[in-house]
Parts: sequence; C-alpha cells; structure tokens
Amino acid sequence: MSELVRVEAWYSLLVEDVRSLEFQGIVMTKHAIGKRILEDELKFGKPEYGEKRIEGLAKELDVSQWDLYKCIQFARKYPEFCDVSHNLSWYEITHNLLASPKKKALVESIEELPEGFVTSLSDLNGQKFGCVYADPPWRYSNQATRGSTDNHYPTLTVDEICALPVGEHLTESAHLHLWTTNAFLFDCQRIFDAWGFEFKSSFVWVKPQIGMGNYWRNAHEFLLLGVRGGLTAQARDVKSWIEAKRTTHSTKPEVVRECIERLSPGPYLELFGRRKVDGWMVMGNELVASNKRFQWTG
Ligand SMILES: C[S@@+](CC[C@H](N)C(=O)[O-])C[C@H]1O[C@@H](n2cnc3c(N)ncnc32)[C@H](O)[C@@H]1O
Repeated sequence: MSELVRVEAWYSLLVEDVRSLEFQGIVMTKHAIGKRILEDELKFGKPEYGEKRIEGLAKELDVSQWDLYKCIQFARKYPEFCDVSHNLSWYEITHNLLASPKKKALVESIEELPEGFVTSLSDLNGQKFGCVYADPPWRYSNQATRGSTDNHYPTLTVDEICALPVGEHLTESAHLHLWTTNAFLFDCQRIFDAWGFEFKSSFVWVKPQIGMGNYWRNAHEFLLLGVRGGLTAQARDVKSWIEAKRTTHSTKPEVVRECIERLSPGPYLELFGRRKVDGWMVMGNELVASNKRFQWTG
C-alpha cells in the first residue's frame, strides 16, 4: 500500500473523530443550553423572560447574545436532539439550518442579488482568485467592550473564520489582505495558516479622529499582507499607509481597495464585503444597495 493511501486513511479518521468530538462537545451543548433557557421561557413567559434576560445571561456567561439566540432557535426548531444530523458543525447549523426565513426572503426579494455578489463561498462554483481582501466580523468574547459588533451584524469566532474553505478558491500564487484589530492581531497567524498564506507585511489606515483605547487612543487599523506561492508585488511604489476619515461602523475606505489593486494581481475576491464592486467578486451576508441595507443569515 502506498504512503499516500495510508496518510489518507489516517487523515479521514482524524476528520471523522474531530467532527464527532465537535458534535458531542459543542453541538450537543449548544442544544442543551437552548433547551434549558426555553424551559424558563415556557414556565414564566414575558415579561420575566425576554430580551433583557438574554442580555443579562449573555453578560453573566461572557458569551455573545447572538450565540444564545442561536442556541434557543436551535432547541426550538429541533426539540429532539436526535433529529439533528451527526455530520453538522455548529457553524453549519447556525448558518444553514437556522438561517432566518424572514431575512432570506429579504434577499430573495432583491433576488436580483447583483452579479458579482454571493452569500457563501460555496456559490463560487470553484472559481479561483489571486487576491483575497477580508474584513472579518470578529466575535469579541466580551462584546460590551467594543460597542457590541453583534448589534451591528452577526459575528464569527476565529475558529469559524479559519474553517472557511478560502484555500479552495486560490490560484497557485496569491495575496491575502486581512484587516485586524489589536484584539485579534496574534490570531491572524492561525488564519494565514488555515487559508494557506505566509505573513509578509502590513499596511496601516491612519484615522485623523481620535478613537477609544485603554492604552494608546486608537487612531489606526492594520491590514496584514499574506503571500502564497511567493507572489511578488505588481507595483513597487505603493506606500504602506493612508490617512482617511472614519465613516459608518466598520466601513473601510475605498482608497485602500485602490492600493490593493495596484499592489496585487486579480482576480479579486472580497470576503465579508457589503457592496457590489466592479471587477470584484464579493461574498457577504449584508448588502448595501441604493442606500438600503439588506441583511440575512447565510
Ligand atoms: C467588519 S464587516 C465588513 C465591512 C466592510 N469591510 C465594509 O467596508 O463595509 C463584516 C461583515 O461580515 C458579515 N458577516 C458576518 N458573518 C458572515 C458570514 N458567515 N458570511 C458572510 N458574511 C458574514 C457581517 O454581516 C458584516 O457585514
């Protein structure tokens, strides 16, 4: 038997075991949490049980409200745990099984999803990209410390971000431009490793307005550059910072995209984008179009 066949068998077993551990350790627990919370909802009803309770519970447990709502939604939709397929991860459950029909309908109503905008990497039908630009929806362990990103949009853990099959959509050599905040700076290495990039350099967005911060008052953000297959820069005169004003929550200046287009060859893929952009494929679950904002879980 060849080396390759033995490694494959070993690897499949590893995947199977880890999947099963995730299912038993995470998915079962999330279901049990949802079921336990629902017990009180059924017992008391409102106003004893409501948004304020969930907000309080999330604070006590130091988890996000979004996660608690997903646990509840999960237990409500599947009162019997045995009805849930054993192959599903918590990510798949929250993003596929529990996708909100109301929000989905919103998207369907603009179905009309513009060309060049997808809601999941699986909709890319194997297309490959030479440049990935990502601004992840970081999940803070204590959402209260950052104006609660969860109030603006659903968030992902670092593990969930790593698990996105970005590597399957890359050309042999490629660049990754990854926005990060200080809180996740050192987690980015895991994302580089998971997606198949090597950290090479950084770019800084300098903001003229002063921001929050326990040490320095933040007035900048980092965009890290990862390289795959030794891909060099296609222009040698792009400097590593720009100054631009903050606008709405999480929005990054468009001028950064122009810098990226000069430095990195396409085809271009933006992850977690919110607008259709000419010449780019954009993946996201929020779409800002004609001054309207459509959001869905998917
Ligand atoms: C930090 S914001 C990106 C902002 C963007 N760079 C801009 O300038 O407008 C992150 C986005 O990721 C979206 N998001 C969260 N979870 C997602 C998922 N599983 N798949 C796709 N998008 C997701 C959020 O709804 C939000 O729109």
